[in-house]
Amino acid sequence: MKIGIVGLGYVGLPLAVSFAEAGQEVVGLDADPRKIAALGEGRSYIEDIPDATLAPLTERLRATEDAAELGACEAVVICVPTPLTGSREPDLTFLTEAAATLAEVLSPGQLVVLESTTYPGTTRERLAPILERSGLTAGSDFHLAFSPERIDPGRTDYTVRTTPKLVGGLTAACAERAQELYGLVCDEVVVLSTPEAAELAKLLENIFRSVNIALVNELAQLCDRLGIDIWEVIEAAATKPFGFMRFDPGPGMGGHCLPVDPFYLAFKAREHDFYPEFIELAGKINRAQPAYCVDRIARALNEAEMPVKGSKILLLGISYKAGVGDIRESPALEIVGLLRDLGADVSYHDPFAEELPEFDLRSVDLEEGLGAADLVAIVTAHPGIDYGEVVSAAPLTVDFRGVTRKIEAQNLVQL
Ligand SMILES: NC(=O)c1ccc[n+]([C@@H]2O[C@H](COP(=O)([O-])OP(=O)(O)OC[C@H]3O[C@@H](n4cnc5c(N)ncnc54)[C@H](O)[C@@H]3O)[C@@H](O)[C@H]2O)c1
Repeated sequence: MKIGIVGLGYVGLPLAVSFAEAGQEVVGLDADPRKIAALGEGRSYIEDIPDATLAPLTERLRATEDAAELGACEAVVICVPTPLTGSREPDLTFLTEAAATLAEVLSPGQLVVLESTTYPGTTRERLAPILERSGLTAGSDFHLAFSPERIDPGRTDYTVRTTPKLVGGLTAACAERAQELYGLVCDEVVVLSTPEAAELAKLLENIFRSVNIALVNELAQLCDRLGIDIWEVIEAAATKPFGFMRFDPGPGMGGHCLPVDPFYLAFKAREHDFYPEFIELAGKINRAQPAYCVDRIARALNEAEMPVKGSKILLLGISYKAGVGDIRESPALEIVGLLRDLGADVSYHDPFAEELPEFDLRSVDLEEGLGAADLVAIVTAHPGIDYGEVVSAAPLTVDFRGVTRKIEAQNLVQL
């Protein structure tokens, strides 16, 4: 089979690799010429895909900027970003632009699948009409389906193959084609009755996480007032073998999914005069968490008789998640901004994110950073760092990730 992938990012590239590894011919289109060039040279820019994985696939996986190549594919999968606008409404610009490009080359009999996370109705109401500018009708002249991506960057226990794949087609035949396509690379494909059900299933998964993270973040703030150790409480509750799922508090939510996706549903709900309160409340609590962390840092400095202004604060981990370099929507960015507003001298160490151009910062050497800091805040607990050493070396440590739970020290503050 010849398969086209539009958007070769965190979602599209691993998918392209999976199809190529399964022996299919894959052509990937991306709007970013740097990604095309990197792949042309066999260089990966995604942590989960080492260069060595790309090396044996050069014959079967090609990246291009030439959309015409999509016309010859039997299936085309769209994996472009679906962010929010400045006013926190869905921004479907990348999707509509990709669809308009595809419409120019669409061929009869092709299967088009949307993987980008979005609100229910996008595939049918937004994508289909643009593709139909080709003169072909969705559901009869070409097949159209939605299949949400469930990838979890940095995770190795579940892969594209072992994570069940959801598909919802515009027609039963569309779903069948999508099932065949994903059957090439996934052990289990679950067929839903409509694209809307598949679109909403993905949002439910992410809203579930957002709501539960907000719950523990709120409890962490309450525990601070009550003088109870939130981590001890969570560990105790997690011993229950049924009816409880563990979520940990932290500095807030980041990445391209959790801070964004719930608002796609809230937007759709508002169109129907429905106001989903769980979603808004969870977003509100999680978005307030970086400011709470800054307050904890300020209190810790105060105890040590230091003002925030002029203090040297080293943040450990700036990306949104341990083991990955993605800084999109990372709560660390807000923490840096708030600390700078208070006059702190902020630096950071992150082996996965070398640069923070927005703040004109570069990751500093850990040892040097620890030596110079008045306070170290563990914002994202990347692997490969000895947090016991950090607590010993730093004059004052604030841990927002619970990685120093087993350490007892006077100069240590835990969320
Ligand atoms: N990253 C995740 O963990 C994850 C997980 C599940 C779902 N998703 C969803 O998948 C979608 C893609 O996310 P991502 O993290 O891969 O984004 P990404 O930014 O890493 O990759 C998207 C790619 O699309 C390219 N692009 C944008 N417009 C284009 C166009 N018109 N034509 C061709 N290429 C274009 C960009 O240059 C970029 O390389 C989003 O809807 C996201 O919500 C992401």
